Amino acid sequence: MKLAIIGSGMIVHDFLTITKDLKDTELTAIIGTDKSLDILHELKAKYHIGSTYTDFDTALAENDFDTVYVAVPNFLHYGFAKMALENGKNVISEKPFTVKYSDFMDLKKIAEEKHLVLIEAITNQYLQNYVDLKQKLPELGDLKLIESNYSQYSSRYDAFETGKVLPAFDPKKGGGALMDINIYNIHFIVGLLGRPKAVSYLPNIERNIDTSGILMLDYGNSKAVAIGAKDSASPVGKTVLQGNKGTIVVNGPTNVMESFDVYDKDKTLLEKVDHNIYPHRMYQEFVEFEQIIRHHDLTEVAKRLQHSEDVMWVVDQAFKGAGIKLG
Ligand SMILES: NC(=O)c1ccc[n+]([C@@H]2O[C@H](COP(=O)([O-])OP(=O)(O)OC[C@H]3O[C@@H](n4cnc5c(N)ncnc54)[C@H](OP(=O)(O)O)[C@@H]3O)[C@@H](O)[C@H]2O)c1
Repeated sequence: MKLAIIGSGMIVHDFLTITKDLKDTELTAIIGTDKSLDILHELKAKYHIGSTYTDFDTALAENDFDTVYVAVPNFLHYGFAKMALENGKNVISEKPFTVKYSDFMDLKKIAEEKHLVLIEAITNQYLQNYVDLKQKLPELGDLKLIESNYSQYSSRYDAFETGKVLPAFDPKKGGGALMDINIYNIHFIVGLLGRPKAVSYLPNIERNIDTSGILMLDYGNSKAVAIGAKDSASPVGKTVLQGNKGTIVVNGPTNVMESFDVYDKDKTLLEKVDHNIYPHRMYQEFVEFEQIIRHHDLTEVAKRLQHSEDVMWVVDQAFKGAGIKLG
């Protein structure tokens, strides 16, 4: 794919380190702000990116790319993705897809009408450990409970406490613990069980934003709890899946899934699984995006979009129930 990157922040720096191993990706452009011009030039030189731009219109007019990677703060995903689709470009959007459910549905409609690829960059769905865990799930018998905790004290929370509100804590910019960190747990659970029957979110709110919270998902015979925090840390960082015939313990947070252990119901360890293909969490998703775009695999896109839609629905229900308004 011929890729234009929008953004030059933390995730873009991280992503660029794997691009030497993405054999089917040509980096044709990076688009940022005037403020970050030096960074754009630095990244262009270091990673052999074709051109730098400080406005997307000019990039669309001048640069020869077929796909954009939208890696800007959450509230900007929708606008850039929409503009890209309307100009005939495929879109890979960072998580969370959009701030509002209705915006996601709008993007999906445009992509479908124009037969374009629209897909969410959400690491866990593509990790081999996740694919293997899905296959092992029936071995647990009747799945009773899932408990997933991803809590990481954020340096941006220090800034927030002193009154400086960065996008990750800004309700107007789609920030907060559920959107930023708990979203991985939601993807993890919804990827296994689909759309729940009921959703309930119990947030800790500071200055109109959820800095941590507990999300409960009711699947009838199975219940799941997803905990996410940016105001406190959990050294545990584990996910536990409990069935009447066994238990799986996932090691590491749900965006990385370093490995997982399978136990029988008597707590005897049966198997340790670590099949992730490449040490960087973003590698497997981007290899798959390359293939989807090369083969214009809209069947796979539809499947992935249905999953993203279910996640966006959960987020929408959670916020509505908790009285949180973002954007
Ligand atoms: N997949 C993952 O593991 C992962 C991890 C972290 C974040 N993310 C997601 O990635 C996205 C970005 O997060 P981040 O941590 O990289 O944020 P960040 O460090 O704050 O970077 C945001 C970038 O967007 C740029 N930007 C802002 N407005 C722009 C505009 N109008 N046009 C072009 N560029 C613009 C900023 O430029 P200036 O600095 O010049 O304003 C900055 O380079 C978020 O949606 C986040 O949820 C994903």
